[in-house]
Amino acid sequence: MNVMIFTSSPNLDGLTAACGNAAKIGVEEAGARALVVNLNQYQIGNCKACGSGWGTCRNNNQCQVQDQFQELHASLAEIDAFILISPVYFGEMSESAKAFTDRVRRCEAFRKEKNYFEGKPVISVAAAGGSGNGLTSCLTSMERLFTHVKTEKFDFIGVTQKNRSYKLNTIYQAAKEMTLTLKNRGQ
Ligand SMILES: Cc1cc2nc3c(=O)[nH]c(=O)nc-3n(C[C@H](O)[C@H](O)[C@H](O)COP(=O)(O)O)c2cc1C
Repeated sequence: MNVMIFTSSPNLDGLTAACGNAAKIGVEEAGARALVVNLNQYQIGNCKACGSGWGTCRNNNQCQVQDQFQELHASLAEIDAFILISPVYFGEMSESAKAFTDRVRRCEAFRKEKNYFEGKPVISVAAAGGSGNGLTSCLTSMERLFTHVKTEKFDFIGVTQKNRSYKLNTIYQAAKEMTLTLKNRGQ
C-alpha cells in the first residue's frame, strides 16, 4: 500500500516539513509505504488555461505544459491514499501546491473512467504562522479541490506555530489511523 505525502514549502526544516515527518511516521507505523514529495523540488509551472479556458486536459486528461508535472501525475495511479500539506500563504496554499493541484484537478476532475483520486482517502493539512490568519480559507480551498476530484475526505487539520507540539501528534495519529482503516478494507 502506497501513501503519497505532498509537502510544499521551501523550508526543509520548517513546520510543513515537520508535519510531513509526523505523517510519514504514522503511515509507516501502520505498515504502508510513505512517499514524501516536496513540490518545491519539482519544476512544475502554472496552468495556462489553454484553448477556450477549459483546456485540452478536460477531454484527454493530460496537461500540455511540458515539465515535471507529467512524471508526478502518472505516478498517482499507484497511490492508495494522499496527505496534502501546505504552508498558509496569504490565506491560501503555497504557490508550489497551487501550481500542482490546479493542473492535476483539471486533468482528473473530468476523467470518464475512475480518476486517480476517486474514492481514495485524503488528509489535508494547513500549516500557518503564529497568527493562524487564513488557516481555514486554506483548508477550504483544499476541501474544494478534493471535492472536485472525488476523494474520501478523512481529515482536515490546521496547525500553527503556537500549537505545533500537540498538532504534530494529531497528524501522526491521523496518518496512522487513515492507513490502518485502508488496510482493514483489504487493499
Ligand atoms: C509569503 C508568506 C505568506 C504568509 N501568509 C500567512 C498567512 O496568511 N497566515 C499565517 O498564519 N501565516 C502566514 N505565513 C506564515 C507561514 O504560514 C508559516 O510561517 C508557516 O509555518 C511556514 O511554513 P514552513 O515553516 O514550512 O515554511 C506566511 C508566510 C509567507 C512566507
